[in-house]
Amino acid sequence: MKATLLSLAVLCVLGVQADVEVEPNFDIAKFAGKWHVPALASNDPMLQGLKDVMKTPAARINLLPNGNVELETYYLLGEKCELMKSTLMKMEQPGHFKEADENNKKEIWVLATDNASFAIIYIQREGKDMPPSKSLQLYSRVPNPGENLATFKKHCEKMGLLGELVVPPLSDRCFKEISG
Ligand SMILES: *[C@@H]1O[C@H](CO)[C@@H](O)[C@H](O)[C@H]1NC(C)=O
Repeated sequence: MKATLLSLAVLCVLGVQADVEVEPNFDIAKFAGKWHVPALASNDPMLQGLKDVMKTPAARINLLPNGNVELETYYLLGEKCELMKSTLMKMEQPGHFKEADENNKKEIWVLATDNASFAIIYIQREGKDMPPSKSLQLYSRVPNPGENLATFKKHCEKMGLLGELVVPPLSDRCFKEISG
């Protein structure tokens, strides 16, 4: 009886602390490089404020030594690509990364990818002067995500972010800018 209660308690604790599920056998080399971001969903007030003015963002994953990555996201606002950059340390679970900055806690998980056409990333952020937020982004190698958009929507639903889904007007401007 005691043992049963104990294992129940352990299960409860594990349940609460369970890791976010990432793509099995995550291959970082296939995640690197340039991506279009044709769809996103976030409860971050800053991003929500931008959703009516933004066009397709672009992202670039640069591999660093030790398996860490540099994440660049370019938000197209008006005619300008605004860069947000962070350096992410790899965590024990492949596909899970954490920002080193103490004032701006940011964690990223690659929830799903086919190693080729798309990746779905989940971002949790917590800053000193902002409420915690969660976001999902669809990374696509081509401007039009096709059927991968349906997969992305399923993940939005699972994370409670379907109501925040944004599919900005298509533009490859930032993608071209980081290519040139
Ligand atoms: C991605 O590539 C790795 C090996 O590089 C492989 O083990 C894994 O199954 C691949 N994932 C998919 C979804 O194809």
